Amino acid sequence: MRLNNLVTILSALAPLAAASPLGAFGLAAWDVEGFAKDNPVGTTTGGNGGSSVTVDNAVDFKAAVAGDEPKVVLVKGEINLPARPKIGSNKSVIGVGRTAHITGKGLDVFNSTNVIIRNLKISFIEDNDCITIRNSTRVWVDHNEFASDISKGPDFFDGQVDIIRGSDWITVSWNYFHDHWKSSLIGNDPAFRDIDSGHLHVSYHHNYWRNMGTRGPAGRFGHQHVYNNLYVDFHYQAIHSRSDNQVLVEGNVFRGKTREALSTYGLVIPDDSPNTCVCGDEELDGFANLGAKNDWGPATVNITQVGNFKKAPYKFKLTPLPLVAPLVKSGAGVGKI
Ligand SMILES: *[C@@H]1O[C@H](CO)[C@@H](O)[C@H](O)[C@H]1NC(C)=O
Ligand SMILES: *[C@@H]1O[C@H](CO)[C@@H](O)[C@H](O)[C@H]1NC(C)=O
Ligand SMILES: *[C@@H]1O[C@H](CO)[C@@H](O)[C@H](O)[C@H]1NC(C)=O
Ligand SMILES: *[C@@H]1O[C@H](CO)[C@@H](O)[C@H](O)[C@H]1NC(C)=O
Repeated sequence: MRLNNLVTILSALAPLAAASPLGAFGLAAWDVEGFAKDNPVGTTTGGNGGSSVTVDNAVDFKAAVAGDEPKVVLVKGEINLPARPKIGSNKSVIGVGRTAHITGKGLDVFNSTNVIIRNLKISFIEDNDCITIRNSTRVWVDHNEFASDISKGPDFFDGQVDIIRGSDWITVSWNYFHDHWKSSLIGNDPAFRDIDSGHLHVSYHHNYWRNMGTRGPAGRFGHQHVYNNLYVDFHYQAIHSRSDNQVLVEGNVFRGKTREALSTYGLVIPDDSPNTCVCGDEELDGFANLGAKNDWGPATVNITQVGNFKKAPYKFKLTPLPLVAPLVKSGAGVGKI
């Protein structure tokens, strides 16, 4: 089939896919792929093989995700969290249907390994990140929706998925990030070079970012493989690699009003961090490599250093560039798995 025809078919199928999950039409991985799958520690399996429990309130949620024994925690309806629960090792936290929704406080994955978070909407988390992954390995964040209100500026809400303190072997896939300023930060301080260096391997694929400010993602000291994501109106700076970080960027599509698709310039732009200096913060530059062709649209690319992260160290399914936008629009977010 000609690609043009497939694009037309996929676009026509988008509303249908939203109603009944059609997987990724065989054009992309629907199961875990990337660093959360292929890594020296082992594939991320979450609570597979453990007991299953359904929770619909904050007290039960906190108790269910605690501890290290394998468990599948099914989340039903809206849960307003009064405090951030710590998700222990060997857990799958999975929303039921299309209405599972976390509000109030966000989620912490601290000192844990082997965690899956899928099919949850997490919105308007005021004091902190929607999800903070800290000193943790093997985490798969898939098919969630993250949203707030971009008109409140960069510092009213914090990050959506922040990955810090030597965390490693993570995949962030098929999430719908929208109407929010700072999306996903990897390595939260240039002072943590020793803790972070050699870690922070993250794959980002088939995520849909719309009406966003910065950090799609922004990395320090790690390696991120950013492929087949769709960016629509990512207003200031999408992919940012600084402080010796390395990114491999391929098969992504940028649409609408996006100023800068990719930068390795060390400056943390004032649109991202207006709190320390109106001029932004200066750090060392990062590195970037380009793999399969990207469609930058009208956005600029500012690569100051080419790195040595030239090829993903695993097998993965690369969606053909013309199919990325319709596939990601139909497949990302909640109610699809
Ligand atoms: C659960 O996670 C811990 C790490 O905290 C690991 O050592 C342990 O083997 C896991 N348990 C099972 C049954 O998988
Ligand atoms: C993480 O581990 C460190 C070191 O053992 C400990 O001090 C800290 O309290 C732990 N944090 C959480 C949230 O479990
Ligand atoms: C990180 O987590 C491990 C457990 O996985 C713990 O042993 C270690 O002390 C933690 N380190 C810090 C700095 O919290
Ligand atoms: C690269 O980014 C820096 C910092 O934002 C900016 O000063 C410079 O003009 C940019 N260069 C290009 C070619 O866009």
